[in-house]
Amino acid sequence: MAERLAVDGGKPVRKKRLPFYHPVIGGPEVRAVTRVLRSGWITSGPITSKFEQALAKHVSGQPVAAVNSATSGLTLALHALGVGPGDEVITTPLTFVATANVIVHLGARPVFADVDPDSLTLDPRSVARAITRKTRAIVPVHLAGHPADMTALLRLARKKHLAVVEDAAHAFGAVYKGRPIGSWGDATVFSFHAVKNVTTAEGGAVTSRSQALIDRVRLLANHGLDHDTWHRVRAQRWRYTMTAAGFKANLTDLQAALGLAQLDRFAAFQRRRREIVAAYQRAFRSLPQVQVPPELIKGLHAWHLYLLRLRPERLGVGRDGFLEALAAEGISANVHYVPVHLQPYYRRTLNYRSGSLPVAEAASASIVTLPLYPAMTQGDVRDVIAAVRKLAHSYQR
Ligand SMILES: Cc1ncc(COP(=O)(O)O)c(C=O)c1O
Repeated sequence: MAERLAVDGGKPVRKKRLPFYHPVIGGPEVRAVTRVLRSGWITSGPITSKFEQALAKHVSGQPVAAVNSATSGLTLALHALGVGPGDEVITTPLTFVATANVIVHLGARPVFADVDPDSLTLDPRSVARAITRKTRAIVPVHLAGHPADMTALLRLARKKHLAVVEDAAHAFGAVYKGRPIGSWGDATVFSFHAVKNVTTAEGGAVTSRSQALIDRVRLLANHGLDHDTWHRVRAQRWRYTMTAAGFKANLTDLQAALGLAQLDRFAAFQRRRREIVAAYQRAFRSLPQVQVPPELIKGLHAWHLYLLRLRPERLGVGRDGFLEALAAEGISANVHYVPVHLQPYYRRTLNYRSGSLPVAEAASASIVTLPLYPAMTQGDVRDVIAAVRKLAHSYQR
């Protein structure tokens, strides 16, 4: 039951709340995971290798290292590229906190640059202004699955000798100017967290055109040991050597089996996401109270999230009020994201204040992330559209 009365005091659009997300897990996933459970080998092993090979096909055949999360992947990629104490790493405030936290854990300092008002991804001009002698790397985020301006960011990075590690947690399957996301920066990190377009429950992957970098990530993901347990068992050798103070970040065969089953259905998942987005775009484009997200002309948007923007000059309700009213209509929505630089931790440790990144802050205050997932029925999509329309008209000014 909705907690609050619908905006017009009448019946809500839905009685039973539409969840913000629901994964598609069916027979193929259950069978694949069960097979591994019964196989006698459940941690990292042959299925993880198979998953890495299947992922490689989505990134022009580049080497891929599967890891236990994108958070780990970002940590390991930045570490492998030499980011450490005293360095600065430029990133966006419109992201999940993990993007910045990993920089802190490496002893480096996150420096937040502002975003482009249209794509809401890093604005290369703001990045250029943020570069100092300490800057070591740039971490763009392909927010919602919309690629950042990689051409300009890579040009800038090359000129200033900076590494580029792409946070592609939202962008598996995205294509930018004819080449897949994953084949642009020095390293790219994907997430297979429960809500992502492909899931392993928790998991991630790092890809790079550099085999040496991926070998290093693999080593760091396994305590800095030269051989993982599976390879030692298979070769019947007990000896191992540690050459770096590594981490523990391996993906298990159980998770990889789930991922492989999901990859088989990835094309169908993406088709359904695009259908839903097309319905939203058609319905909302003509509403003056809102602004629809930009589509990608040269490339393929991964459409992980649908970020509708409210126009405060046309609506007599703020973002929070709009979200509450949507909930009262039976629709769960979300916000991606609260600007990371305004989180209490970053205000306290790095002295960021409201107003320091005006484009990102204004955008965040207007974002309403609508449900978008392949398990949504036509009826679900119609309900979301009806609820947004109802609120746009009720609150219009
Ligand atoms: C933009 C972004 N970066 C990083 C992460 C971290 O991913 P993971 O949960 O796989 O560590 C997420 C997860 O939601 C994300 O959305």
